[in-house]
Amino acid sequence: MLAGVALLNLCSPPLIFRECDGKEIVILGSQWGDEGKGKLVDYLTERADVVVRFQGGHNAGHTIVVGGEKIALRLMPCGILRDNVQCCIGNGVVLALPTLLDEIAMLADKGIDVADKLHISSACPLVLPSHIALDQAREAASGNKAIGTTGRGIGPTYEDKVARRGLRLSDCYHSEYFNERLSALLDYHNFLLTKYYAAEPVAQQAVADELLAQAEQVRPYVADVADLLATARLRDQVIVFEGAQGCLLDIDHGTYPYVTSSNTTAGAVVVGAGFGPCHIDGVMGITKAYTTRVGGGPFVTELDDAVGEHLASKGQEFGTVTGRPRRCGWFDAVVLRRAVQLNSFTSLCLTKLDVLDGLDQVRLCVGYETAAGERLLVPPTDPIKFAGCQPIYETMQGWQASTYGLQTYDSLPAAAKNYLRRIEELLACPIDLLSTGPDRVQTIVLNDPLSQ
Ligand code: GDP
Ligand code: IMO
Ligand code: MG
Repeated sequence: MLAGVALLNLCSPPLIFRECDGKEIVILGSQWGDEGKGKLVDYLTERADVVVRFQGGHNAGHTIVVGGEKIALRLMPCGILRDNVQCCIGNGVVLALPTLLDEIAMLADKGIDVADKLHISSACPLVLPSHIALDQAREAASGNKAIGTTGRGIGPTYEDKVARRGLRLSDCYHSEYFNERLSALLDYHNFLLTKYYAAEPVAQQAVADELLAQAEQVRPYVADVADLLATARLRDQVIVFEGAQGCLLDIDHGTYPYVTSSNTTAGAVVVGAGFGPCHIDGVMGITKAYTTRVGGGPFVTELDDAVGEHLASKGQEFGTVTGRPRRCGWFDAVVLRRAVQLNSFTSLCLTKLDVLDGLDQVRLCVGYETAAGERLLVPPTDPIKFAGCQPIYETMQGWQASTYGLQTYDSLPAAAKNYLRRIEELLACPIDLLSTGPDRVQTIVLNDPLSQ
């Protein structure tokens, strides 16, 4: 009875059930990654209190440009450049401690101190050197069937998580338990590496020593991220969830098996950060004004011609993490329709509009035709059918004037405005933000997603 009264006092209904005035928005890639999520998260965090990564790992490469200076982040949430923004790494992120520590050191060199700003869930699965070795050995053994992964051990780490044999950050703080689990895991990894892939084994003692030392260094940042977010919401704070990769790389909804190993769609926020779905106010899809993809897999609007070269060179389409050239093609409204469906996008942000400057014509893929002659408005869920699709294009007039760095909608060429309006029409989703260059300030606000 007494305990019940105490509990009631602790959790008084007005605190739990009241409406909150803060804004909780999700930023997601809507194509195959590299849409410019980093730039937009950095832009929006001017008015955010908390930024959260909830899936993926250091396969991500999110670029921020401020006053001409470029920073590429892989694990650190893109709010880290702002004072007074709390940065969280949720349980859904696979954590490579060496990369995280490198980023902390790189930021310190730039005068950015992450102390009191960085919060890492102790439930994050750890990426071990043997995960990286397995990822690379597997890719090498797959020859022309290779997925084209980033080689960072992301797939093997998620596999071990689901198989319940992986290590979590919290395990490092219980040495006996840690050694037991690491030993079992490395036995298994080394068996695969040596017997199946004829690769070198990984030395257990060295891995244990490194992991424990690194875990000690991040200990001050370990937090209960779900609780921190729930509290932030009750304090009416603005929370921005920062997606990694893109919709078509989703393990369930993407172009399987040419995908990453996490869910990259909106549902991942809920499980990967520990944040209830009813508290999300908006989901913004980031999309390039054209399409790119790194690694293997179907790409219906891919261009192998002078326009493809124009997009690659003007867009500087090289991977942020691996430096690999990105494949380029026209804007694919079929892919975007699927992304709108899966993520309940409340609005879009279109990036790299400036890269289309100077083209006589621009094309939009408005439908697919399958090998059997069927016409589709959304991509087939069957990946083999997907790979056999041909694009149905609509051609529009291009524009010669530069849009680079423009900051007002009115200053855009009429043909560019027509292109944007047609995209909104095809997707039945409004474009709220436009990006006209890599810098924070090269942005046009049509409708502020944080003040709706
Ligand atoms: P992310 O993974 O989605 O964060 O995207 P990346 O950072 O991997 O790749 C996007 C690239 O495009 C980066 O080099 C950005 O600096 C750059 N970028 C972002 N927005 C624009 C834009 O509007 N115009 C141009 N020209 N570059 C942009
Ligand atoms: P950001 O967050 C673009 C791609 C890889 C490969 C596939 C699987 O910067 O948009 P993985 O290493 O995840 O097992 O690789 O997914 N990929 C990305 N492509 N941007 C990314 O991240 C990516 N992260 C993974 O190229 O095709
Ligand atoms: Mg990227």
